[in-house]
Amino acid sequence: MDTKMMKFQLHGDSRGQLVVAETMAEIPFEIKRLYYIYGVGEGIERGFHSHKNLQQVYIAIHGSMKVTLDDGTESKTVTLDDPAEGLYIGHGVWRKIFDFSPDAVLLVAASEHYSEDDYIRNYEDFVASTK
Ligand code: TYD
Repeated sequence: MDTKMMKFQLHGDSRGQLVVAETMAEIPFEIKRLYYIYGVGEGIERGFHSHKNLQQVYIAIHGSMKVTLDDGTESKTVTLDDPAEGLYIGHGVWRKIFDFSPDAVLLVAASEHYSEDDYIRNYEDFVASTK
C-alpha cells in the first residue's frame, strides 16, 4: 500500500516545540494546496474516496483522529495524534477518517490543486480501478 508514517524535524527547547517539514525532504512532493479540517462532531466519519493522482500528507496538528487506509486488497487503521508526524497517502488508496477528538485539527498538504475529477467516490469503482 502506498502509505507511510513520517517523522518531521523536531526543534523543541525550553521555549516550546517547533516542527519542520520541508518539500522534497519530509514531504515527498511540491505542496500546491493546504487545507484543514476541524470542528468534527462525535461519531462523524469523513473521506470515503480515493484519488487518481493526488498525493497527500495528513498531520494531526492538534488532537487526534483515526484513518483507515484500503488499497482494494488490504486495509489498515492508523491513529494520528502527534503533530511531529505525518501520514503520506499516495494515489489509489481509499480512506476513511473518523474518531476525531473534539479539539482535533487535521492539516492536509496536497500535491495538486483541488479537482473533483481526481476523486473516485464510489467504492466499487475504486476496487475496479485497482485491478
Ligand atoms: P470532501 O472531499 O467531501 O471532504 P472529506 O473527504 O474530508 O470528507 O470535501 C468537502 C467539500 O469541500 C466538497 O464540497 C469539496 C470541497 N473542497 C474544495 O472545494 N476544495 C478542497 O481543496 C477540498 C479538500 C474540498
